[in-house]
Amino acid sequence: MLLRATFTPIFTAIPYKSKIPAASLSISNAFLNNPLSVRENSSLNANATNQNPLLPPTSAYVHLPFCRKRCHYCDFPIVALGSSLSQTEDDDPRIANYVQLLCREIEATKVASNNNPPLETVFFGGGTPSLVPPRLIWSILEALRSKFGVCPDVEMSIEMDPGTFDTRKTRELLDLGVNRVSLGVQAFQKELLMACGRAHGIDEVYEAIDIISSCGLKNWSMDLISSLPHQTPEMWQESLKRTVESKPTHVSVYDLQVYTRGVPPAF
Ligand SMILES: C[S@@+](CC[C@H](N)C(=O)[O-])C[C@H]1O[C@@H](n2cnc3c(N)ncnc32)[C@H](O)[C@@H]1O
Repeated sequence: MLLRATFTPIFTAIPYKSKIPAASLSISNAFLNNPLSVRENSSLNANATNQNPLLPPTSAYVHLPFCRKRCHYCDFPIVALGSSLSQTEDDDPRIANYVQLLCREIEATKVASNNNPPLETVFFGGGTPSLVPPRLIWSILEALRSKFGVCPDVEMSIEMDPGTFDTRKTRELLDLGVNRVSLGVQAFQKELLMACGRAHGIDEVYEAIDIISSCGLKNWSMDLISSLPHQTPEMWQESLKRTVESKPTHVSVYDLQVYTRGVPPAF
């Protein structure tokens, strides 16, 4: 297991937008020394960004900014859809329209030459990409395939939130080529999840872990947040213990970052 503790993540402050962010795609080259942080990846910038125009792109970060609700700590560019959206509901027009724009954005992205190597990694981040129907994920992948090509052994990751997917949806995503899941758990205590304003409880966390394992997905990662208010050392220890017991292949620990709109953090 690879444990990555990001105690001082570098998140840039992007002002909260209440409307749907412009379709966001970030194309980059894996050889760059400075990969974008998750926060930077979720840029509001509508323009596709090739980090270094001299090098062909090898990675695509696709931002899918929809969540059921905004978590209290979150300052990402997202749209809260409300609890009316269930995982079985047909396409929400806000999601479908966004994906349509995103595909146009991909098609319009300038590439340096016609013989670029195919993409080696594709990352669907959010927001909560597991709220997006697999059919729409497929259309994004088709757009990426026809524009850039995708390696047969691509690493394709998707962020998923407990309570937003079932076995069927997970299988459909795996059939599309998704081979890595990043599960946003944050904490293993009911009271902390509630204090964070998470849209799920502990039962959904375990259900999500079971679904991932039962679908045979070996490569999955878990996100936790440390330094939450009222998080005792015992709670943190319990979260780490339960994380290890769940056997993810990777753990990302984010130390809580508190954003004050327009004012840089005082540390
Ligand atoms: C793009 S977010 C994942 C969003 C996903 N829908 C979820 O909530 O699980 C990636 C991770 O960043 C971390 N994160 C987001 N905002 C944070 C903050 N203000 N402080 C610390 N970590 C944060 C969380 O652990 C989250 O899982």
